[in-house]
Amino acid sequence: MQKIHAAITAVGGYAPEYVLTNAELETMMDTNDEWITTRTGIKERHILKGEGLGTSDMAVEAIKVLLDKRGISPEEIELIICATTTPDMQFPATANIIADKAGLKNAWGFDVNAACSGFLYALTTATQFIETGRHKKVLVVGADKMSSIVNYEDRTTAIIFGDGAGAVLLEPNNDGYGVLDSILRSDGSGRVYLHQKAGGSVKPASVETVMNKEHYIYQEGQAVFKFAVKNMADVSAEIMERNSLTSEDVAWLVPHQANKRIISATSSRMELPDEKVMINIDRYGNTTNGTIPLCLWEWESKLHKGDNIILAAFGGGFTWGSTYIKWAYDSK
Ligand code: UT7
Repeated sequence: MQKIHAAITAVGGYAPEYVLTNAELETMMDTNDEWITTRTGIKERHILKGEGLGTSDMAVEAIKVLLDKRGISPEEIELIICATTTPDMQFPATANIIADKAGLKNAWGFDVNAACSGFLYALTTATQFIETGRHKKVLVVGADKMSSIVNYEDRTTAIIFGDGAGAVLLEPNNDGYGVLDSILRSDGSGRVYLHQKAGGSVKPASVETVMNKEHYIYQEGQAVFKFAVKNMADVSAEIMERNSLTSEDVAWLVPHQANKRIISATSSRMELPDEKVMINIDRYGNTTNGTIPLCLWEWESKLHKGDNIILAAFGGGFTWGSTYIKWAYDSK
């Protein structure tokens, strides 16, 4: 009997309405469109505006799109895993809040925090529940309201990030389609280069931490860039080799969208032409856990049953990884 694989059977995405352009950033800080475009590839990003709205609200919108497309009801979902770095609250888990708001009455769920690699960590975790036969319908959501932790006075980080959410549905497949392999790595010593200084148990929130702006993203961009370029490319080359895939065999690279130069380093290492690389960083910036599912959502109509797809990510932690999927359906 063929092994059960976890196949993606539907994709949904959501980007908030408000668009923050490079031109608007120019009015907020000492930066310019030319610098941002050449150093990152970003032109604009979406920002979630509105009192009381958080990461879960974007995730719910992405899930609605997905459920509608697949033609199933929210009650059929058995498990939801939410990858996020900007949870609605410290607790409860955003997955629980999403389940409530989206009417996933029969699902249990939890959050995964692996910064920009979170979606791959969550996808790999979710895959296990399908492969073992434990569940038949599992949602994996990647969502972040990065604007909630961006310091708009820090021009080196503010220009990169945006808000957004994407979701995929996993179902069992007995014909060899689905998630076939994953390589995930972490190196916690990298935390010094990319973290949020306060708000956790080491340094709880206080008037002082707020005054010192310690609830924002702290990033040493160049150091992160160097690690990202090397590790995202290495792990993507490794997964190809381990699965005997040549650049001709790979239909698409779906990279985390942090910086166009990091993406280019990865695709050249894989010897892939630009036409096989999903890039939407110009319109969304870095939505952290949202980047990969947002790409899948945008490119869904171009994906064909049997396509070999490599997902790749690098992020805070450090965390990084690569996942090999044999795409399971032609979109209608
Ligand atoms: O997704 C999670 C993981 N994160 C990443 O992968 C991000 C990785 N890092 C990066 O993408 C890049 O390091 C950044 C985009 C964050 C920064 O680009 P960079 O090429 O590394 O710039 P830099 O920090 O080395 O700065 C170069 C120069 C500096 O000026 P001087 O000292 O050479 O005069 C900066 O002050 O560019 C200046 N600069 C800017 N100029 C205009 C920095 N930010 C800006 C800006 N506008 N927004």
